[in-house]
Amino acid sequence: MDVLKIPKQGPVIALDGPAGTGKSTATKRLAERLQFVHVDTGALYRALAYVLRSQGRWKTGATEDERAAAEVLAREIHLEFRFDANVRPKNRILANGQDVTDFIRTPENSLAASGVSSVPGVRAALLGLQRRLGCQGRTILEGRDIGTVVFPDADVKFFLTASAEVRARRRLSELQAAGGVVPSFEELQAQIEMRDAADAGRSIAPLKQAEDAILVDTTALTLDQVVEFLAGKVHERLGPV
Ligand code: DC
Repeated sequence: MDVLKIPKQGPVIALDGPAGTGKSTATKRLAERLQFVHVDTGALYRALAYVLRSQGRWKTGATEDERAAAEVLAREIHLEFRFDANVRPKNRILANGQDVTDFIRTPENSLAASGVSSVPGVRAALLGLQRRLGCQGRTILEGRDIGTVVFPDADVKFFLTASAEVRARRRLSELQAAGGVVPSFEELQAQIEMRDAADAGRSIAPLKQAEDAILVDTTALTLDQVVEFLAGKVHERLGPV
């Protein structure tokens, strides 16, 4: 069956954009406010990268063998989200039954996830799953290609941006709040620019705004203002949901 033909059981909201735009937190808050299910599609690529790395099958991602292994695992792996109110974050991701949530956001795994997500076979293998997760009804999917590839038929599409400088500053505060070793601001900005270039420059499903997406520049906005704006647009388009 053509995965794009899986019928939607309710409204689908697509929220795309690069890292550091406040996308994740804004999506989480918007989902809570509208009582929608939040689907973090980046977590799928991250979980896959984590399993590959822990099996020693992904080191730099530069070889054909590594990329082939990623594609095979993407087809075989069982990924699922589970909600657990007793732990943080509450939205958990399980890979073959193992909760990997706490291991997928390290800098090494972020870099590997970006590499894994550039393998065309990986993207194809995860398409059906993302589509099924989004079709359950009342969902907000957060990612890079939701409005362009996964849900070109989404009911409302947003594309969030922010300057690299502001994104690096936000990331720096997050890391400082978390404690541990914190890279310099310049290092973070360089990392962000490198990851953007990789995500936007890849030949398959590059990061780009869908023509019918609403562009939201969050550079000068607070999180509350972003959520307020998104919720307002959803109601404008869909009425009371
Ligand atoms: O949103 P994130 O930072 O957790 O995503 C991790 C990586 O996965 C990032 O490098 C981009 C990639 N990704 C993607 O290619 N397509 C998506 N729909 C979501 C994430």
